[in-house]
Amino acid sequence: MAKLIKYVKEGLNIERKLAKVLIKTGQIEVNNKVILDPAVNLKKEDKISYLGELIDYREYEYLALYKKEGYVSSRNDEKAPSLLNLINDARLKKRLKLVGRLDTDTSGLIFLTDDGDFIHKVTSPKKDIEKVYYVELENKITEEDIEKLKQGVLIRERNTEYLTKPAKCKMLTEKSILLGIAEGRHHQVKKMMRAVGNEVTLLKRESIGPVTLGGLNPGEYRNLTEDEVKYFKNN
Ligand code: URA
Repeated sequence: MAKLIKYVKEGLNIERKLAKVLIKTGQIEVNNKVILDPAVNLKKEDKISYLGELIDYREYEYLALYKKEGYVSSRNDEKAPSLLNLINDARLKKRLKLVGRLDTDTSGLIFLTDDGDFIHKVTSPKKDIEKVYYVELENKITEEDIEKLKQGVLIRERNTEYLTKPAKCKMLTEKSILLGIAEGRHHQVKKMMRAVGNEVTLLKRESIGPVTLGGLNPGEYRNLTEDEVKYFKNN
């Protein structure tokens, strides 16, 4: 956990100098006791307050965002607006990084965080985190295609080719499916559909591991719960 001075600085969104003054003049309490040492190391369960009010500070931020179509998964918004424009807190917007990517024309669930370890745990192919996509298709899909997608299809690229890992695949209508994959190569879903002679017309990520879009509307976001964060961190 952080030192008291960092907690007060970040939690109250103030300059370090001012945080030091608040601590040294006895205005900050740790577990209802005035603590005058800015360098004291905090424990996870410590309750820090200023003028009797708890300071809400998390060492790291973890958001689940419902990306709208038309937003680009990068900070740079030359070609389309960055999805960071959907975050309306300037401090958060500055510190958050994207956990993986969605294509500009794809909507759905994406995480944002400033915890590098969390990014690794969610995106590493070794961690086998399943992502489920709702996919609408140009042409009718057959049971045979579904079987191929489940077992793995061959993706051919300019200099390389690879077999996709076993996937979960469920037909919803003759032109829509749910696809669950535990890898996330560039444009993977679109390439998998091309490998069975089809074309994606609409793509939406429904879930990442146990986290679903739930009650979020397009453009909305929420904090991940402690249990959700733990699921990925302990994986
Ligand atoms: N697969 C794709 O093809 N595009 C995405 O945005 C995500 C997965």
